[in-house]
Amino acid sequence: MNIENLLEKTLTKPQYKAIKILGDQFHKTGTRAFLVGGTIRDLLLEREVSDIDIIVESDPWNLVHKFDPKYQIEVISNSQFNTCKIKFLGQAVDLAMARKEVYPASGALPEVTSSSIEEDLGRRDFSINALAACINPPNWGEVLDLNRGLQDLQSKHVRILHAGSFKDDPTRIFRCMRYSGRLGFALEDDTKTQLLNDLTYLTLLSGVRITNELVKIFSEKSLNSILDLMDQFKVLEHIHSGFPKGSEFSKRKKLLKDIRIPTPEFVFYVLISLIESDQRLDLIKRLDLGNKLSKFGTDLNCIELLEVSSSRSEIFKQLTEVSEIAISVAEAYVSKELRSNLKLFVNELKTISLCIDGEDLMGIGIPQGPKIGDILSKILTHMIDSGPKSKSGQIRMAKKFFCDS
Ligand code: CTP
Repeated sequence: MNIENLLEKTLTKPQYKAIKILGDQFHKTGTRAFLVGGTIRDLLLEREVSDIDIIVESDPWNLVHKFDPKYQIEVISNSQFNTCKIKFLGQAVDLAMARKEVYPASGALPEVTSSSIEEDLGRRDFSINALAACINPPNWGEVLDLNRGLQDLQSKHVRILHAGSFKDDPTRIFRCMRYSGRLGFALEDDTKTQLLNDLTYLTLLSGVRITNELVKIFSEKSLNSILDLMDQFKVLEHIHSGFPKGSEFSKRKKLLKDIRIPTPEFVFYVLISLIESDQRLDLIKRLDLGNKLSKFGTDLNCIELLEVSSSRSEIFKQLTEVSEIAISVAEAYVSKELRSNLKLFVNELKTISLCIDGEDLMGIGIPQGPKIGDILSKILTHMIDSGPKSKSGQIRMAKKFFCDS
């Protein structure tokens, strides 16, 4: 199969031009060069190509230095694993050397050695990501499909290339959910069976590797379908047993759908809110989410513990140390009554402050020390419930508390 026409039709003009010249230049260095992975998958699906991934059968860094000097190449990064990111004619391009991978243990990073493009395609996650198209001028646009990827693209299936794939790299379980949800592809039968069998390998992944995958999932347009798949295939419960399941999960997820917090931590806020309160800190530890998110988890628990019938001062006391973000997230899913307590706190109670301070109390003869703080906090409590609002009223109350103590 040759996709010459598709390359011209689907790529933008600048992408096409950059790839064409790169193909020429690599050819002149004597190496084969191919578009691979997501680039070719998306091209074949006639979807917009966002990343240009090219594989060559040599160290790309050395090859780039042999290009005709009239071409300006900006090297963005160059890693020890024979991959480099360049900017060429305004296009960001990922270059990598064809490689074989050996996984020393499940969940560990692979040991990498150089290989042919054919071997490189064989080490990949799914058949739809194991396609390549040659960009050397004599074979421009020729597709290399050694793993029946074209057939799976046609029949809309996500299929692993060998039975050990998920065991080698359990992050592929997340990737499988992501592609299936994003493209609306089903899991091929043996892939489905293997995935269900291999879910336990998720426990071998570090928190950081799991969170990297979750961040990618949460940036997908079809997040909702992907989360449903993760529930259906019990992926979430293998990350942590505290995630609600089935209808309970859908209910929670629906309540959280309107939260729009424009921060990269958004994904974790949602995950932490989804999980049962008594499991939150454990999840945070498992995913290695750090102190800020531990505080968020504790804050949510604190909000959930607030009695609906609490007095104004009780609401104030319980929420005064709670972060604004925890309140905004909780507002999305707590009961109507609890939500009105949160609104009362944010719109009114939080803004209340005393007219007097420690200096005023010392001015009326109360000695410096912890008693000052105690008295001020008692007056604030009274003030929140029913007053006094004036400075003189608060001073009078301070004198009374001091005499009674
Ligand atoms: N890959 C793999 N196993 C992984 C991660 C990646 O085999 N655990 C391979 C796949 O062939 C994939 C390629 O590396 O196509 C590039 O990975 P990545 O950039 O993560 O994915 P894309 O294919 O570019 O897809 P997208 O970014 O659209 O998700």
